[in-house]
Formats: sequence, structure tokens, C-alpha cells
Amino acid sequence: MSLDNTVVVLKNNKNKHLAVLKDDQEFVSQNGVIKFNDIKELPSLVTSSNNHEYHVYVPSFEEFILLMKRGPQIIYPKDIGSILIAGNINKNSNILEIGTGSGALTLYLNLILDKESQLFTLDESKRNQRRAQKTIERFLTSSKINNNFLKVNFINTNLSNFSFKDIADEIDTIITDIPEPWEFFMKNKIEKNLNWVSYLPSITQVEKIVIKLHEHNFINIKIMETLNREWIVDKKIVRPKNEMVGHTGFVVSARFLSN
Ligand SMILES: C[S@@+](CC[C@H](N)C(=O)[O-])C[C@H]1O[C@@H](n2cnc3c(N)ncnc32)[C@H](O)[C@@H]1O
Repeated sequence: MSLDNTVVVLKNNKNKHLAVLKDDQEFVSQNGVIKFNDIKELPSLVTSSNNHEYHVYVPSFEEFILLMKRGPQIIYPKDIGSILIAGNINKNSNILEIGTGSGALTLYLNLILDKESQLFTLDESKRNQRRAQKTIERFLTSSKINNNFLKVNFINTNLSNFSFKDIADEIDTIITDIPEPWEFFMKNKIEKNLNWVSYLPSITQVEKIVIKLHEHNFINIKIMETLNREWIVDKKIVRPKNEMVGHTGFVVSARFLSN
């Protein structure tokens, strides 16, 4: 089986790198050279020209999105987990994502949703959507997982011009990752059962969307922040790591009931 064009992680005892395997090409670092033609299968353990061992394997979703080249800031994996619960998302959910960006969340939704469920993603930037599409396709083809198909419907427009009623029947969760999600309500009104989730870095943005959600009769409005603390467990050292990601974004969730 050819491994040409497969995305892999190259991991030594200190670092991880993301690389795309290409016939006749090589990975060069201060630890020497690894010839891609020497990688015959995945996973593999290979030795560089300077005698450093590397594990070579297909990245997990988390490794892929944290190590990949990207455009706009992504939603961090820990927050994707929170968003799935906040948005009451399961494999049959039908989702409108507002703010495709680098496609990190879009890719995860593509991975977990069934073939029959709908996934729309809106962005005003064609460039970002093109990059996101390539990213998703690259991960899907490399990871060779069962639902190896692109199910995303790209909507290329500014939110202020978007008419929700055209797809409303098909949607049960809206997720936003844009600076001004309240623009949604300039032209649109929610009239059906629906979950709303907004990912926002700043508390002033949170305040504005909460006011808007109240105005539009949403219930169960919840504001949450997810903090992850990693630990070291290594012989006599058993303690939290010194470094921690202090803040990424707030997750605001709410529910609309049509009764
Ligand atoms: C932070 S990024 C989204 C990142 C994405 N959630 C991810 O995980 O990779 C925000 C995106 O929203 C788009 N955007 C911002 N304001 C918008 C608006 N009013 N209408 C449409 N797209 C908008 C930007 O072009 C950008 O691509």
C-alpha cells in the first residue's frame, strides 16, 4: 500500500512534528534525516541518519489540529468536548456552524456525524473555507476511518446576509465561533426547537450574546469555561505541570423551545 500523501506524526523523546509523506522526499531536522521511502508501514519505528529513534504514526484528531498549519485561531480540543455536550450533539444531529475558520471544529463534526445528518458551515471568507476543506480531506484520507467522506455543506456569505429560514427545518443545533454572533438576529428569528452554542474569547462578547438570547426568549442560558490541568506522573515526580493554558474561550449555550 502506498503511503504517498499520508499525514503522519514523527515523534522522538522530546518533540512531535506533523509531516506529509512524499515518495523520494525526506524529513530533515537537527537530529538528522529520515528518508520517507524507508517508511514502509504505519505505525513504524525508524532511526534518523544521526541515530535518533522516531515513532511514525497517523495523528490523532487532537495532534492533527494542534500541529497543523492553520489560518484563523482554532477551537481547542478541550473546548470542542464542552461544545458537544453544551449543544446536545449526537451522531444524528443536524448542525449549522457559523465561522468555518481553519475547520478544526468542522473536521470533528464531520468525524462524529452519521452520513444522514446535515452539517452546514458558514464563513464570509472563501479562502478560509478552501483551506478548511483541504484540511478535512487530508485528515479523512490519511486516517482511513470508516466514514471517510466529506459531508460538509459550505455556505459562503457574511452572517448579516444569511437567511436561516432556507435551512431552518434541517437544523437542531447552531454553533458560532465569530466575534459578533448576535448579527444572526439582524435578519433571522428562531421559531423552532433548537440548541444554541457560542464560543467567545471575551466576557464583553458573552454579555452581548446573553442579552440577545434573552431578548429572543431562549431558556437555559449557561456560561461556562473549561480549564484543563495536566499532571506529570513519572517515578518520584507526581504533580501538576507548571505550565497551563490559562484562557481560550467561554462557551455560552441556550435552548429555544417553540411552544
Ligand atoms: C475564529 S475563526 C473560526 C475557527 C473555527 N471554529 C475552527 O475551529 O477552526 C472565525 C471565522 O469566522 C469568520 N467570520 C467572522 N465574522 C463573520 C461574519 N460576520 N460572517 C461570516 N463569517 C465571519 C472569519 O472569516 C473566520 O474564518
